[in-house]
Amino acid sequence: MDIPRLHPDTIEQVKQKADIVDIVSEHVVLRKQGKDFVGLCPFHDDKSPSFSVSPSKQFYYCFSCGAGGNTIKFLMELGKNSFSDVVLDLARRYQVNVKTLAPEQRQELQRQLSVREQLYEILSLTAKFYEHALRQPQGKVALDYLQNSRHLSQETIQQFQLGYAPAGWETLYGYLVEQKHYPVELVDQAGLILPRKSGGGYYDRFRDRLMIPILDIQGRVIGFGGRTLSDEQPKYLNSPDTDLFDKGKTLFGLDKARAAIAKQDQAVVVEGYFDVIALHAAGITNAVASLGTALSVAQVKQLLRYSESKQVVFNFDADAAGVKAAERAIGEVADLAYQGQVQLRVLNIPEGKDPDEFLHTHSSEHYLSLLERAPLWLDWQIQQALQGQDLKQADQFQQSIQAIVKLLGNLPNTPLRTHYIHQCAGFLSQGDARFALQLEENLRTQVRGQRWHGRSQKWEKPTDYSLREAAEAQLLRIYIHCPAHRPEVHNALKERELEFSLSHYRFLWRQILDIEETENQEPQTELPQSYASWEEHTEVDLLTALQDRCTESPEEIKRVLHILQLDETAKLDILRPSLAIRTATASLERIMCEKRCRHLLKMWEEATQAILADPNQVQILDSLEQSLDAAFDVEALRFQKLFYDERRYLQELDRQRCVTPADLLEVPQLG
Ligand code: UTP
Ligand code: MN
Repeated sequence: MDIPRLHPDTIEQVKQKADIVDIVSEHVVLRKQGKDFVGLCPFHDDKSPSFSVSPSKQFYYCFSCGAGGNTIKFLMELGKNSFSDVVLDLARRYQVNVKTLAPEQRQELQRQLSVREQLYEILSLTAKFYEHALRQPQGKVALDYLQNSRHLSQETIQQFQLGYAPAGWETLYGYLVEQKHYPVELVDQAGLILPRKSGGGYYDRFRDRLMIPILDIQGRVIGFGGRTLSDEQPKYLNSPDTDLFDKGKTLFGLDKARAAIAKQDQAVVVEGYFDVIALHAAGITNAVASLGTALSVAQVKQLLRYSESKQVVFNFDADAAGVKAAERAIGEVADLAYQGQVQLRVLNIPEGKDPDEFLHTHSSEHYLSLLERAPLWLDWQIQQALQGQDLKQADQFQQSIQAIVKLLGNLPNTPLRTHYIHQCAGFLSQGDARFALQLEENLRTQVRGQRWHGRSQKWEKPTDYSLREAAEAQLLRIYIHCPAHRPEVHNALKERELEFSLSHYRFLWRQILDIEETENQEPQTELPQSYASWEEHTEVDLLTALQDRCTESPEEIKRVLHILQLDETAKLDILRPSLAIRTATASLERIMCEKRCRHLLKMWEEATQAILADPNQVQILDSLEQSLDAAFDVEALRFQKLFYDERRYLQELDRQRCVTPADLLEVPQLG
């Protein structure tokens, strides 16, 4: 392990002196643009300047490739340097006095380091001790169990270093402390012995159990799982968390599965030790297990490092507990999954079997074919939500709808969401096509309501107001004066999830909706003769009705008069209503989208700064031989991804706001 040696003050001073614009300028030609600078991104083959540097935030980001961070991160990425190398370099350059941690602190670290080394040694020796005991007469029951009940070969038993903890109270204690002279505190710290409740002294934690060593990614023993050979509870006894062993961050079998995960580009997560062992024995070597604790994001992220296309399959037991475990695990990684950062599938083996049981009676090919057909996590969750629900019962139907709205509400507004809404409407309507259509519409509205909409004032820019004012006015003019285009206005508002936001326009829009509603309730007169006369008919109606109403509230009418009575410019403005509807609604949506961008950028920056503000975190990650990306692969990436999604959509909206030659083919509607 690399010892953190730089004093936090040194890092702080370097950060303050090394200006990001100065540093980046040495490597990238920057041009000023507003408050920021832009240039060609040095981290990918950039054709147009997508790289932006903010002096006020001391932060850079690339809109195309997603690189982003502060000055130190920039130099780390550029030269593939370590954190401390970059800081030391900058310290020399900016004449910052380099302070390292005080000698006592260093000694303490040194001591901790040697403690860790000794703990590894003790655990490794213990594994060998258990392996040896398995081959002794006292281990016969355990060995028989492995060979006869579990059908494991010698090869597998050796590969997983399976062993046996003898039945006495102080067997291991005697071996490690009395025979090998390890300090009793260290053996205790390794989680192998427990202090006696009375009378002093220690006794072995694992007694008369089948022992399964748990290895870290580098193949070092860090803990044990011990299975009872009788009916004793618990069935599995595990090492406690220690300095070396963190259950929430360890995956059983990853040391052996890592290469296969990379090669097959997929990881299988199962529940039990023996599921992993059985799968590996059957040649399915990309399997790992969590350790009797709920699967955590940290564990899934470890797996994602090895699979390029980020494919993970959860194959938990199909019993109620297994389904719950799968649901909880999905909940943990749902954020990643919704953003497509993990291609998650869920496999339930038929008849409620776990992989180990299944492989006793089925071939590995059979298992692989089940893996291949495993549904995507969202499909699996939809199945679960609908399973056992009697949709003919109103309350169960309602519950199912709510569950589905909640599931789909987190999906970004993409064709994928549309696909799922359509599919669920199909399931829920049970073959009634007309009902399916209605339901789809209804689901769409509800699902939309779930997302963060970007209506908050907080992220508003001062210039947003005039843009919004112009766009909302335009839509209202068209609505009132071009009746044929009313459905188009309604659709655009609904599609883009827009509302009128300025109070006087909101007022006007409410009046319009109100008038239309009362009109619809009145008995229908005869149908209009022709389209043209119908158009004229309603046009006059709405406008007169509005004017009538507005006389009752003269204050408001003053502010919307320019909408009701058109001057010459306004008339020209609505010559091409379809085009005007598109550009106006795209502009309104753009304002919301920009707000979401600002919000997300802030979150991303904060998350990144939080990592960089803690040099130890970066250094420790460094020393664990994790890639730089992994260091940033925390929350920051999530916001980054969302931010880029929004940026891309913003570009699409900008296209919609432009007038193309084709648009001018819309025949002008002369009043
Ligand atoms: P299971 O009870 O499903 O284990 O628990 P299994 O592997 O199917 O059991 P056998 O050996 O085939 O009968 C799955 C996992 O949950 C953890 C263990 O990691 C186990 O492998 N567990 C289970 C515990 O930690 N403690 C327990 O008491 C039981
Ligand atoms: Mn099981």
